[in-house]
Amino acid sequence: MTASLILAAGKGTRMKSDVPKVLHPVAGRPMISWVLDAAARAGSDDRILVYGHGADQVIDYLGESHPDVRTALQQRLDGTASAVMAARALLESRQGDVLILCGDTPLLDADLLRSFMDAHCQSQATLSVLSAHLDDPAAYGRVLRDERGRFCGIVEARDASAEQLAIGEINAGVYLVDCQFLLQALDQVDNRNAQGEYYLTDIVPMALERGLGVQALDMADADSILGVNSRADLARVSRVAYQRTARRLMDAGVSFIDPQNVYIEADVQVGADSLIYPGVCLEGSTRIGRNCLIRSNCTVVDSELGDDCELRDGSFVQGARLENRVSVGPWAHLRRGTLLEDDVKIGNFVETKKARVGKGSKASHLSYLGDAELGTGVNIGCGTITCNYDGFGKHRTIIEDDVFVGSDTQLVAPVRLGAGTMVAAGTTVTRDVPANALVISRVEQKTVDNWAQRFRQRKRKEMNIDEQSRTDSASD
Ligand code: UD1
Ligand code: CA
Repeated sequence: MTASLILAAGKGTRMKSDVPKVLHPVAGRPMISWVLDAAARAGSDDRILVYGHGADQVIDYLGESHPDVRTALQQRLDGTASAVMAARALLESRQGDVLILCGDTPLLDADLLRSFMDAHCQSQATLSVLSAHLDDPAAYGRVLRDERGRFCGIVEARDASAEQLAIGEINAGVYLVDCQFLLQALDQVDNRNAQGEYYLTDIVPMALERGLGVQALDMADADSILGVNSRADLARVSRVAYQRTARRLMDAGVSFIDPQNVYIEADVQVGADSLIYPGVCLEGSTRIGRNCLIRSNCTVVDSELGDDCELRDGSFVQGARLENRVSVGPWAHLRRGTLLEDDVKIGNFVETKKARVGKGSKASHLSYLGDAELGTGVNIGCGTITCNYDGFGKHRTIIEDDVFVGSDTQLVAPVRLGAGTMVAAGTTVTRDVPANALVISRVEQKTVDNWAQRFRQRKRKEMNIDEQSRTDSASD
């Protein structure tokens, strides 16, 4: 088993943020958690994280989410070599190799790390460095090789000559190194370079001087080693992480219209034969069942959908639970505490909050159902509002089984509609209604024959408008 050391103290100056760089989310998870997970899955039994910038936030996060990770504080943020030095006390007694990773390379996957570790063990080298070829090697450290192709050092982009900058092989920032050699070598690293920093990469020539085995293993694909030094890098790695998730889901039987254009966070689950349209965001602990249809531009956060559900375009769902064969939207807003039982239909411009809607009930258009409990087979007419808030507290509306609520109804909570009640359109319900009653609150309709015609004639006369000019102005 190998110890791993994750360097995560750096400031990430180009991120321009008070949040420590390694806590920025990548596809819904803090950057550092990806690296910690990859190390664990690659078989590292002892993970040590070096922290510095944003110390309190990093320690709080680790305490909550990775309590078994040991930590070392780097006091002065003056380079990757001094980051390793900060963990000296935790490494001193360690025999064998230590795996060193950067906290800002969240796309490293465990399979790659395992192959790298295997190749290192087989070679019996003292130091192995993971490298990759990039079309645009940008600001990465360049891998230097002699005329026979033997690895002989790493030069940082800012220290490199024009000729060295043209090298396409870069240092991925992943190292396997004998722990005792590492600690001795670090004592001799200086900071005579363009950034005035202590570079971990300087241990390469030191190992060579001592005649120790050193190698750069060119085995990483270009995406896996992407490092985050800026917001642009962050967007780039997030995109790859989203695409990987979409890929994993396709392998598990989920279909996408356009897998490049969906944003599904790492912990989300989607059942087989579901179909996901473009622009969909699935976040947090969301779980979608089998054979669901999630149409364009829906966002689902921390919610659960059963099987055969349909979310129509533009719906926003957060903290809700939908059972099976539920249809929602287009443009519905399901908020926390919403429970939609089997076969419920929620239509366009309907908002629900802390609402349980019983089996087969429908609210097809333009309604607000808050702090409400609906039985089975209820029909909510267009424009129904549960008036749940009096400026001080929230009150509940209870609608029992098979109630029919006509359009444009206000239910002033607390209020209860007994089973089978019919509410006439336009009613304001302020008191409980017993089962099977009709409830109606309207001023009686009055019809005055020909009133409108007489009104228009009077107006025309007053304003001296003849029939011809009226037609002209109407067509303006
Ligand atoms: C580093 C490598 C570079 C490599 C690249 C890969 C060095 C000198 N350079 O460059 O060769 O191509 O990673 O992504 O190692 N850190 C600390 N304490 C510090 C400074 C950095 O913990 O004092 C941590 C950072 O938080 C980061 C990691 O070390 O997670 C790498 O540091 P960064 O400053 O991003 O180095 P790069 O310039 O990217
Ligand atoms: Ca970096």
